[in-house]
Amino acid sequence: MTANLDTDMRLAVLIVAAGRGMRAGGETPKQWQPLAGRRVIDWTLSAFADVPDVATVLCVVHPDDMDQLPNTRCVAGGDTRAASVRAGLEALAEDDITHVLIHDAARPCVSEEVIAGVTQALRQAPAAAPGAPVTDTLWRSDNTQVTGTVDRRGLYRAQTPQGFAFAAIRAAHRAHADAATDDVGVARAAALPVTMTRGDPDNLKITTPGDFARAERILKAAMTPDIRTGNGFDVHRFGPGDHVMLCGVSIPHDRGLQGHSDADVGLHTITDAIYGALAEGDIGRHFPPSDPQWKGAGSRLFLEHAVALARARGYVISNIDCTLICEFPKIGPHAPAMTDTLSDITGLAPDRISSKATTSERLGFTGRGEGIAALATVTLVGA
Ligand code: CTP
Ligand code: MG
Repeated sequence: MTANLDTDMRLAVLIVAAGRGMRAGGETPKQWQPLAGRRVIDWTLSAFADVPDVATVLCVVHPDDMDQLPNTRCVAGGDTRAASVRAGLEALAEDDITHVLIHDAARPCVSEEVIAGVTQALRQAPAAAPGAPVTDTLWRSDNTQVTGTVDRRGLYRAQTPQGFAFAAIRAAHRAHADAATDDVGVARAAALPVTMTRGDPDNLKITTPGDFARAERILKAAMTPDIRTGNGFDVHRFGPGDHVMLCGVSIPHDRGLQGHSDADVGLHTITDAIYGALAEGDIGRHFPPSDPQWKGAGSRLFLEHAVALARARGYVISNIDCTLICEFPKIGPHAPAMTDTLSDITGLAPDRISSKATTSERLGFTGRGEGIAALATVTLVGA
């Protein structure tokens, strides 16, 4: 049997986060600052969360910051980036690993593709790192005058993660006394060949204050929005009575609607649309008609339950559109009150709620005035 190469790699991810972020400004070093809803380093760590073959993740942090990452293995770093990397490599010495990916905490936008490019190259080479081609024209200048143009062909910007055979980079760092800013430099000084993989212009290193806004734009563009729609449909039959409840509003009428609860066909259909969007069945599942406690219940209760369930599952209701189908009573004059009531129950702004009506041109059961039908669509957005 041939060995499965894919199972032979045991990776350590080494995140260096011990710098003070002087150029980025702010109250705390850049890796602890907020970015698109969480800290820079949380994005960086999550970029590696699903990388295959990772045996351990180690963060190198400043001695003052040892309690910043309670759920992550941490060691204290040094005064230079190289010293921090070295501290991390020594801490990994006893781990059963074959390779290490060394990554700057300050690069939170690193993509799955960039990381995969490095790990794949490591199957054939002792060292691999992403490079992004320089696209701007490069000048020489004395700070006032342009004094020359540099040929940019063959020039690349060094990025991380930089990946290495573990024993080789540890030996190279031990032998390299100078404070190199980049582990590829250390590897090359030890005569390790380094494969260049595809870098990404979005894999920026947050360095100056303006970089936060750019990183935020990149992260937000990469987030796939979780949007769900649901539909609902319901019918209630007319019976004796002097009013109907529609979308929480009592409307005088020469008949009422029959049903187990208050028969509010509008609220039922909106409630069902929310349950539908959540793939949570329908009203009957949450409030069984066989259960006497719901007899005559105000249907507001059902909608409140569906709204709370959506919220508990991490969704915000973006909009509700409800159509009532009947010849009588006339809905138009009551539609604004319905929207207000729905806004009150759901907490949505009125301009996100549509309550409207149509007739069925005197056709079918609604046309003959035997009952009222309602349908609704809702949109939920993952918060
Ligand atoms: N780093 C480190 N230990 C150091 C210096 C830097 O672990 N002594 C880390 C930083 O936390 C960062 C990465 O190395 O994730 C790249 O360094 P850099 O962008 O220079 O970050 P800082 O040194 O923190 O920033 P500055 O140079 O502006 O102070
Ligand atoms: Mg620095």
